[in-house]
Amino acid sequence: MSKNFYITTPIYYPSAKPHMGHAYSSIAADVIARFKSIEGYDVFFLTGTDEHGMKIQKAAELNKKDPQAFCDEISKTFIDLTKTLNLSNSDFIRTTEERHKTTVIKLWNLLDQKNQIYLSKYAGWYSVSDEAYYSEDEIDDIDGKKVSILSGSKVEWMEEESFFFKLSEWQKPLLQFYKDNPNFIQPESRKNEVISFVETGLKDLSISRTTFNWGIPVPNNSKHIMYVWLDALTNYISATGLFNNQNNFWPADVHIIGKDILRFHAVYWPAFLMAANLPLPKTIFGHGWILSGEEKMSKSKGNILDPIELIDKFGADELRYYLMKDVIFGLDGSINIENFKLTINDLANNIGNLSNRIFTILDNNYNCKIPNISEGYTINENLLIDKKDFINTISNFEIHNYVKKIHSYSSKLNKYVNDNEPWNKKNNSEQNIKNILYSAILGLKNIFVLLYPITPNASISFLNCINIKQKDIHLNLINQSFKENEKLTKPKILFKKY
Ligand code: ME8
Ligand code: MG
Repeated sequence: MSKNFYITTPIYYPSAKPHMGHAYSSIAADVIARFKSIEGYDVFFLTGTDEHGMKIQKAAELNKKDPQAFCDEISKTFIDLTKTLNLSNSDFIRTTEERHKTTVIKLWNLLDQKNQIYLSKYAGWYSVSDEAYYSEDEIDDIDGKKVSILSGSKVEWMEEESFFFKLSEWQKPLLQFYKDNPNFIQPESRKNEVISFVETGLKDLSISRTTFNWGIPVPNNSKHIMYVWLDALTNYISATGLFNNQNNFWPADVHIIGKDILRFHAVYWPAFLMAANLPLPKTIFGHGWILSGEEKMSKSKGNILDPIELIDKFGADELRYYLMKDVIFGLDGSINIENFKLTINDLANNIGNLSNRIFTILDNNYNCKIPNISEGYTINENLLIDKKDFINTISNFEIHNYVKKIHSYSSKLNKYVNDNEPWNKKNNSEQNIKNILYSAILGLKNIFVLLYPITPNASISFLNCINIKQKDIHLNLINQSFKENEKLTKPKILFKKY
């Protein structure tokens, strides 16, 4: 029986078209999802759009559109992006869907039944851009404007009747939970940040609004709509059908998010779930910022590298490889077009060329068939892959190291080929050449199985050439021998150079 693995991306605001930051989170989650699937897990990979709240309502007004029509239009660009990025997502959830609304109402009622909700009045600072409440000491005054210290976004004073969630009751249980589950918040630096925040004390959380109406109405009090973060976070259980007894996947194994939304995922979300007596996700991984130079890449700063333009020009595999290799997963990372080209040219040299050289010899001399190895011949120990090592690397969310390990294996294989010169008939017996080629093709197979989560197109295309269908790609293929005389196909150019 295969085991389940459930992974999510944030659900993005369809307030504007997707950008590199969204692409980055989604690619990282896809890499882990694909890896887990070739490790043998039954994977559920969820992404989607977060469509309610003041931010979206305002964006729709600005575009002179009805909010639902506006969401339909922009959400479509996020759905398109899942295809452009070549994501393997199992589902795409939109918070305006019925299945989601009923789940949120169910969760609200559960919290209400457990006496976790009361009506009162909220007075305090609110950032529409972050859809977040901030306390007085989290606010700065810059040129007469009040902004959140944490995000830099503008805040406004808000005063209205509101339902509250008894978050304060959950301070101690949360701290205990973090202690008992040291891997809950990753990486370590983020965990410390959350613990310090919770240690300073938690106030009850305002979870409804009355001054606009784009959201899910509170049961039995439709003057109020639910706070968009309570609505949004619930997407992770809506898609699993938890309340319809269809669930196979909750709790999630990991929520992949950016560090901007850590507080919502690592404090509010587990508190809601504990209060409703539902299981908690196993891990929240908060990755860093994609920067342009020293700055966060953002539309307002005009320093955007557009993922769709890059993919149109260079390919999805190439963008995925670059982002996953050059940005340390968990830390901020600066990206630019020069480094992008360096990295993908290196990919073409190190891996693409190697495949091309080996298959040229095989095609010219052996009719593209697997050469017979001599009896008792064993593959050079150096060329055998330790699968466990790659499994651990992904379990530790070290995606950058995973790619670097593939790259250094490929360098080793290049060195092996260069040292052994399978083209050199003077120094090598015919049988020797066959043995070397066999080893090299086996090494290439290892590389492209491991690359499948990172560069799925190139991997599928290479593995097809050695008679492995996409549905059969599995870590078990690593180090596995070939059938004698098996007929292969010379792969087309897998990675281009620029
Ligand atoms: O916050 N670098 O949606 P959002 C890296 N709807 N990642 C980035 C990034 C950057 N420069 N910019 C954005 C929301 N991201 C809520 C989420 S979840 C229940 C609700 C990524 O459209 C990163 O994952 O503002 C970040 O957390 C997310 O996009 C924010 O997307
Ligand atoms: Mg945001």
